[in-house]
Amino acid sequence: MITAHTRLLGVIGHPVEHSLSPIFQNAALSYLNLPFVYLAFDVLPPHLGGAVEAMRFFSIRGLNVTIPYKERVIPFLDCLVGEAQVMEAVNTIVNEGGKLIGYNTDGVGLYRSLERKGVGVEGERVLLLGAGGAAKAAVWALAKKGVASVLIVNRTRERGENLACWARAKFSLKVEVIEWEKATAGESSLWSEVAAVINATSLGLKGEEIPLPWEKLSSSVWIVDVVYRPGLTPLVREAKKRGIPSFDGKEMLIHQGAESFFLFTGERPPLQVLEEALDVKDDIS
Ligand code: ATR
Repeated sequence: MITAHTRLLGVIGHPVEHSLSPIFQNAALSYLNLPFVYLAFDVLPPHLGGAVEAMRFFSIRGLNVTIPYKERVIPFLDCLVGEAQVMEAVNTIVNEGGKLIGYNTDGVGLYRSLERKGVGVEGERVLLLGAGGAAKAAVWALAKKGVASVLIVNRTRERGENLACWARAKFSLKVEVIEWEKATAGESSLWSEVAAVINATSLGLKGEEIPLPWEKLSSSVWIVDVVYRPGLTPLVREAKKRGIPSFDGKEMLIHQGAESFFLFTGERPPLQVLEEALDVKDDIS
């Protein structure tokens, strides 16, 4: 029941109408009977500072931050903690008595997904597609997992090099960069020696295929897609068709959301409740 004690949580972004966070966050809040509601706010760029400042006026307990504000929101916060500091990006703001604290749960989301699915990448080589914000969170998770090296494959070489530079500086990680065309046309060993291929590009969101050289991959490889869309992404569908172990961004979405939920409320949401809420959404759409 909404009462005078109910406090507000939400997500800010632009656009934000496709966010799935309100669905599973509210499902967990009502399952645990906690005094919060979670809404999505489409914030125009000139209003970003005002929207964040409003957290103090309205005692909004917490906000998730999505595209395109994960970096732009930083100047409006009082401090950054842990991964947010390392990644220089924020996806969760918590209002602690008027102080706005920035966290990042994206990397934890992928890290926990790898754990839960039993993807053993410790001491292994991993091929990472992409070099944007999602790829940065993936590098954080891979470094924490203790991978031996990361091969970044990106359309724009310069962006790949920037991410590699960051990864070497922050984690002393062994990283190489190669462009798409060179990678797909390259030596078989480039693909056969990797324990996992992680897609951290936005390809697949609108149903785009990713033309991997499937025949070059080892039989024990994992395919991990950070993209989530109702049904499966074409990449994960193809992997499943070939009998290759794989999972999509739903895992990561649930784990990053669960971590934000914990930061907002101090309670751990049952993962099954979050999962079921997304499954119901899949059935409706
Ligand atoms: P996010 O924060 O979700 O990671 P982003 O920072 O815009 O979003 O990064 C998107 C990633 O998807 C980038 O690696 C981008 O490649 P470029 O660095 O070359 O732009 C990749 N990407 C997007 N569209 C792509 C396409 N059509 N083909 C190949 N890569 C694509």
